Amino acid sequence: MKRKEITIGYDELDYNGLTDAERLLVDEARQATQRSYAPYSHFRVGAAIALDNGVIVPGSNQENAAFPSGTCAERSACFYAHARYPEARFKMIAVAARGTDGEFQAEPVAPCGACRQALLEYETLAGAPVPVLLVGREKIYRLPSVASTLPFAFSEF
Ligand code: THU
Repeated sequence: MKRKEITIGYDELDYNGLTDAERLLVDEARQATQRSYAPYSHFRVGAAIALDNGVIVPGSNQENAAFPSGTCAERSACFYAHARYPEARFKMIAVAARGTDGEFQAEPVAPCGACRQALLEYETLAGAPVPVLLVGREKIYRLPSVASTLPFAFSEF
């Protein structure tokens, strides 16, 4: 038997500790929560993706009365980004959320497993790590890549 371990390092920062480009992306993700359509969960998620063509593509969760037909903020952003700008490559992603009280979540919110898998595909296309900013009310986590959020990702068939 061989015991193996995976360790994931990430930075914890506050808003002022971010670069200008990171702050801009965090602002976009926070603003995108306002365009969430979440009449069922009342959990409003916003995502923003910085592309290498200079465009920032926002996304928000879009729910549906037939629950599984809705989609998360991260997937609405990444699918739209690649549908609209198929030549552009992802550079950075930010995710923020507001709970039922309308306030930004105190703790940084992480993408669900399905979104990690979807985002990973675009990181692979980019050919370079795409940092992920998980945005809490004051605390921000900066993960080095999408891959770091999804050990043992599905990648072959
Ligand atoms: N949601 C997201 O938008 N992103 C995630 O990563 C997790 C969950 C949405 C889906 C649903 O509209 C609401 O949050 C509650 O699960």
